[in-house]
Amino acid sequence: MTGSRAVREAARIIRAGGIAAVPTETVYGLAANALDASACARIFEAKNRPQDNPLIVHVADLDGAKLVWSDITATAKRLMDAFWPGPLSIILPKRSIVPNTVSAGLDTVAVRMPSNSTVRDIIREAGVPLAAPSANSSGRPSPTEAAHVMEDLSGKIPLIVDDGPCTVGVESTVVDLTGDVPVILRPGDITAEDIGRIAGTVLFRDGSRDTKPASPGMKYRHYSPRARVVVLGPGGAPIAKSINSMYHTHKDKGENPTILCLEQDADAYSGLNVRLLGHGMRDAEHTVFRELRNADERGSDIVLIHASELMGAAVLDRIMRAGGKAVPRA
Ligand code: TXA
Ligand code: MG
Repeated sequence: MTGSRAVREAARIIRAGGIAAVPTETVYGLAANALDASACARIFEAKNRPQDNPLIVHVADLDGAKLVWSDITATAKRLMDAFWPGPLSIILPKRSIVPNTVSAGLDTVAVRMPSNSTVRDIIREAGVPLAAPSANSSGRPSPTEAAHVMEDLSGKIPLIVDDGPCTVGVESTVVDLTGDVPVILRPGDITAEDIGRIAGTVLFRDGSRDTKPASPGMKYRHYSPRARVVVLGPGGAPIAKSINSMYHTHKDKGENPTILCLEQDADAYSGLNVRLLGHGMRDAEHTVFRELRNADERGSDIVLIHASELMGAAVLDRIMRAGGKAVPRA
């Protein structure tokens, strides 16, 4: 469904304690009233999401954030001024009004104000903040088009509000502001440099190395198509040579490999089955999840990804996880 009718219908469902898929600028979300524990439980069920993975709360204005956070720090204010509305989720101590289902038992809650105007209309019309994870089945690539939500959740949810392809394409940057220094728990389109410019210092948390991850979602295998994903690079040994030889090995076995790379790296793969992720960070963010899903649609058995620093931290993080690898970080 599209347009203002879809906005009203989504708001009605959410007010009544149901769930609906909604667009955001990053990826499509599966939304419920963030203040209603049993509504939020439906999200976990539809996605088959582990219970210990907390949800991000979406608000349309600062009052919405004040409703769920118990305290807003000076750094949080500066980051909100700089990047909201937009793809930045900020973690601060929560108020008791936020159910444990949303925070997964943590005493903090992640909040963001999306820039997509359709979802902001839905939040205003519903009159409540929305808890919304990405609207994929847990473990699958995040959905950047309404059709991707259909693929994963058709029959499990009553409504998908279709607002076309997402403009960003990877999930928001998640930053923990409960300590003295901001800590990035998940890289996104708002980069560490962007945050550092406003906040002074910023740290990067590698959740995959912690025994008790600060961001529970980081410990799960993620973003995987049915095809096997192998990531080579960035940097290191001659990547193109290795990918070429792997490609032919799999081809000789009668399999159907696909190569994903930036345009700059495509010359090395002429005549092969290559899908381009565009030219740089923004392009790669915009195309990566779609291309991971498309590999399945084209019947690929294996996806060979030529990783490049030019793809940016967010895309490198997602493709490494799709390949089941810990994300190497300084
Ligand atoms: O762009 C986005 O953030 C999208 C759209 C729909 O807004 N949402 C999204 O939600 O990506 P989800 O649930 O797929 O990812 C939320 C991430 C998880 O890694 C989760 O563990 C982390 O944020 N997170 C949420 N609340 C947290 C908290 N209180 N402390 C630490 N990590 C938290
Ligand atoms: Mg997700």
